[in-house]
Amino acid sequence: MRHHATTRIVEALAGHITVATLRGQVPRLANTGDDGGPLFGQIERLPYNLQLLIDGILWQVVPLAVQMIISLCVITALVPWPYALAIGLIISAYMAASIIGADRYHEQAEATNETAGRLTALVGDILRYPSRAAFNGNVPGELTSVVHLSNRRLREASRGARSLVTMTIVQSSLLVLGLAALLVLAALDVLQHRLSLGDFVLLHAFILRLTLPLGGFGFLVHQAGRSYAQTRDILLLREPVRLETSSSVPRPGPAAVHLEGLSFRYGDGPLIIKKVSGSIVAGGLTVLVGPNGSGKSTLARLMAGLLDPTEGRVWVGQECLSNISPELRHRHILYVPQQIGLFNRPLRDNGLYPPTRLDDAQLLDRLQALRFYADERVPDLDLTVGDRGQALSGGQIQKLEIARLTGVETPAIILDETSSDLDPASELAVIEMLRVNRRANGTPYRRAKGTPFQDGARLI
Ligand SMILES: Nc1ncnc2c1ncn2[C@@H]1O[C@H](COP(=O)(O)OP(=O)(O)OP(=O)(O)O)[C@@H](O)[C@H]1O
Ligand SMILES: [Mg+2]
Repeated sequence: MRHHATTRIVEALAGHITVATLRGQVPRLANTGDDGGPLFGQIERLPYNLQLLIDGILWQVVPLAVQMIISLCVITALVPWPYALAIGLIISAYMAASIIGADRYHEQAEATNETAGRLTALVGDILRYPSRAAFNGNVPGELTSVVHLSNRRLREASRGARSLVTMTIVQSSLLVLGLAALLVLAALDVLQHRLSLGDFVLLHAFILRLTLPLGGFGFLVHQAGRSYAQTRDILLLREPVRLETSSSVPRPGPAAVHLEGLSFRYGDGPLIIKKVSGSIVAGGLTVLVGPNGSGKSTLARLMAGLLDPTEGRVWVGQECLSNISPELRHRHILYVPQQIGLFNRPLRDNGLYPPTRLDDAQLLDRLQALRFYADERVPDLDLTVGDRGQALSGGQIQKLEIARLTGVETPAIILDETSSDLDPASELAVIEMLRVNRRANGTPYRRAKGTPFQDGARLI
């Protein structure tokens, strides 16, 4: 019964917190390029931490508090009030020591958590890109880093354990010495007939009843301290559901993009984009060229409203992006990143990923039109593409993405080097496909086999 109740509360809370955390963090991770490894660890540990905390609060703290309050009431009623006051002071001192000790422990726990997060991120990195370590003969080097961080976590955890021991010693000393002094005073009062022997025995019995649960509190602080720190960290990452005020539905058909004095810098760094102005025609194909690191991807993200300009404005059609809430900007202008991160799901799920309106048959047709396989093989839509599409070639990933985009009706689309891995013949085919699509200006494009492309798909 107890287990059932706790489990229900824990699972409900963990689900709610996970969703709220992802809501806030997925857009942030997408923009910073952070791989989310530490966050993944935090979400994984969440049910365990909540279980500890909720079990502790519901089944230990609450019953202990009730037991203590009853004992204190009985003592106050039976023995002279100065004794109750003295007991109250001793317990307050005990609680103060617990809170100070717990604060110190939490600081330590946070340091341990930070190191644990770095360790999780490192192990995640190695497991996600084993080829980088193995092909370069650097598995021992990576393992040395793992050992180094593990040792650091061990040192921090033992510092935490030591601070707990100190806290326990201080707590116990306060309690034992305070109560011993109280009982000595009570014994003297009995000898001087100021307190009856019966009251003394009662006082003794209830003091025991009152103080034994305090040990339980201490135990709970020890056990739950780390869980508390970890749960608090993840709670800070939640994003509440926002009530959307703007409807922000773009007009159908392609839209022009206007850049008005755009400037941008990452954090406190130098200006990467300096006062860029210009217009990109609706429904056309515009190519932006420049050397590596010149800011093409940055400009593309600014144009898509994924980054907010330091200065200037971006207009898509009649809409200024800064007036559209970030989570709705993709309806007006869609950005396809340089690194296309496919999900480890079947080809179909990746190729039909929203907002495309293709169906299975259209996707297959487009893949074949783009010569997905060098021979005449028909792509298997149930094929699982592996982590980040590792089971596909770089060019195949890009062809899958371009096929998907032919079914997207967003007024403007930005392709960040989406044809960079294509062989020359395929690149020509893609450019030809995009050009015809642009020239057609809403007329379905028909390739040799006669498959229409989605009306309104426009690529910049
Ligand atoms: N998230 C970031 N934080 C800080 N600086 C960044 C970030 N992303 C890019 N930069 C810097 O901004 C500059 C422009 O980078 P950007 O990716 O826009 O170049 P690019 O023109 O797309 O290059 P490439 O041709 O190699 O794709 C670079 O100097 C880069 O180091
Ligand atoms: Mg780039």
